[in-house]
Amino acid sequence: MRVGVLTGGGDCPGLNAVIRAVVLKGIETHGWEIFGFRSGWRGAITGEGRWLTRDDVEGILTRGGTVLGSSRTNPYKEDGGVEAIRSVVADKGLDAIIAIGGEDTLGVANRLTADGVKVVGVPKTIDNDLAATDYTFGFDTAVHIATEAVDRLHTTAESHHRALVVEVMGRHAGWIALHSGLAGGASVILVPERPFSVDTVVEWVRRRFEREYAPIIVVAEGALPEGGAEVLQTGETDAFGHVRLGGVGNWLADEIAHRTGKESRAVVLGHTQRGGTPTAYDRVLATRFGLHAVDAVADGDSGVMVALRGTDIVRVKLAEATAELKTVPPERYAEAEVFFG
Ligand code: F6P
Repeated sequence: MRVGVLTGGGDCPGLNAVIRAVVLKGIETHGWEIFGFRSGWRGAITGEGRWLTRDDVEGILTRGGTVLGSSRTNPYKEDGGVEAIRSVVADKGLDAIIAIGGEDTLGVANRLTADGVKVVGVPKTIDNDLAATDYTFGFDTAVHIATEAVDRLHTTAESHHRALVVEVMGRHAGWIALHSGLAGGASVILVPERPFSVDTVVEWVRRRFEREYAPIIVVAEGALPEGGAEVLQTGETDAFGHVRLGGVGNWLADEIAHRTGKESRAVVLGHTQRGGTPTAYDRVLATRFGLHAVDAVADGDSGVMVALRGTDIVRVKLAEATAELKTVPPERYAEAEVFFG
């Protein structure tokens, strides 16, 4: 058998662990040939990439990023994109493609399956917002990085008796904010799912100052004030229609300073949450996803995604996994609210 593998969308710690598992199990257990497409769906359109060997995946388990490169190319937005993928698949004699990605990459995988290309999906995103899987790999690493930042910011905030606003990633889902805020003992956590009242945030901040502590506010980049809009870096959209978010942290820090008369600063963690080595948890999850994706291909399955349910890896329909995002439910946010102020 010949199988293609690609990584699409924003990079994420653990991608290389999946690639390594796919290559080693594909070659060693099944005797397959594995073609690594360069830069996500762009490589599948142009055919750019290379046949991978054991040597190509030597030492990559612990490395962040992706040795294959990534892009936000959407074949359905490129003239003749889908046709081009079909002929690349035919030319290289590929029996299936293993696509490692988030909602956008796997949304394409789902449509391609309907258009006659055999695809098995592997869920990745630091945002943990893919439905049908309990966790995506990359999330644990991002939460560790954000929590470490919150821990460090506590001491400097206390020393200067300042409010510190920490902006973390999370476009439509506040999982990173929720988990790092809870783990780091934040005074307020703001998520995209629940528009916030600036008055209430300021009240919580005041209460924290009154108790002689310095408030730490963790805010997801997609969080928005009641009646307001998301704060954008640019109005431009990518091939999947996403705008570039960013700036809510600075905006909120200014509001807090203005309304409380206390010094406030914002820290934007940005891509530090996506870079670097994956945690042990993410290495194991990513490796297991890679192994099970190979099993799915070996079974002739397609249009499916491997997913974590409890401690088991199962297969779910790509259509089910990409139908809607997994956002923070009100009851999970309510748990965190107990600690606000
Ligand atoms: O989807 C993952 C994510 O990390 C989002 O949280 C964030 O909005 C986006 O990627 C930013 O990605 P980039 O800077 O690569 O466009």
